[in-house]
Amino acid sequence: MNQARVKVVRSVDLAVTNLGAAQNFFTKVWNLDAVTEDRGIVYLRASGPFFHVLSLRAAPKSGLIRVTFHADSRAATDRIYEQISREGAPTDGAPRPLHSAGGGYGFGFRDPEGRNFAVVCEVADHADRGAQPDRPTKISHVNLNCRDNDVTFNFMVRALGFALSDQTRQFRFIRCNSDHHSLVLGFSNDVLLNHIAFEMPDLESVMRGIGRMRDHGHAVEWGPGRHGPGNNAFAYFCGPEELPLEYTAEMQQVDDSYRVRAPEEWTWPAGRLDQWGITAGPSARVKSAQAFFGFLNDGYRLDG
Ligand SMILES: [Fe+2]
Repeated sequence: MNQARVKVVRSVDLAVTNLGAAQNFFTKVWNLDAVTEDRGIVYLRASGPFFHVLSLRAAPKSGLIRVTFHADSRAATDRIYEQISREGAPTDGAPRPLHSAGGGYGFGFRDPEGRNFAVVCEVADHADRGAQPDRPTKISHVNLNCRDNDVTFNFMVRALGFALSDQTRQFRFIRCNSDHHSLVLGFSNDVLLNHIAFEMPDLESVMRGIGRMRDHGHAVEWGPGRHGPGNNAFAYFCGPEELPLEYTAEMQQVDDSYRVRAPEEWTWPAGRLDQWGITAGPSARVKSAQAFFGFLNDGYRLDG
């Protein structure tokens, strides 16, 4: 039987120490919309159809609780569960109907480095609002610093169906749909969040986002620029509690004919870290933020 694949990153669950401030930021500045609040968890959506792309809850320590993938059917979810179990990764039980906001069917698991993930389907999604000027459409990708990149990469390929798009000295870019990457795995000494990227409908929206963030005291920490791998436009910021965030647009669309390039093929001339060359490199602040925001592994069940 063919391998089952996850289809896209649906959502990210975050813990924050100041829920009100984070909620205010993500709705009034980052331009997501509130969906509902359930058992102390605030759910926020983008303009795309997913029930939520971000959830927030108050906790004594801020951190990333979980990254949730979308599967396109119960059968696919069940098969991915089997693939994960075969790899020996711990799960929170077999796929089942979920009782968190939006419902659906799915299960949680941990990757080989202990991060929480989930695979879900049949969530009560919304009508797609279509691209809205200056509002995120979805989670574009999540970039994870890995202590053992090889082990995590092999797990993502074998258990979830990811494919390698490109590899640099710092990162593996992996895909589960036509976007060049939905996950990025960093070669690092720590198991931490590097950043969460939200997709904007176009370059204009990235630029307007930079201005709006600046108006609210969040200066751009790297960008605007255009990456090499993925060819996507970018701007990086430090959000609430130093959460590392990216607005991105124009992600390269690829298929299985895409030629994977190796680190030797992804080099920059001296003084350059992106294609445009109009921005200085990442600020010291965002570099430290990319080595700070951890995963909260314990005590957070998928059902809230
Ligand atoms: Fe990124």
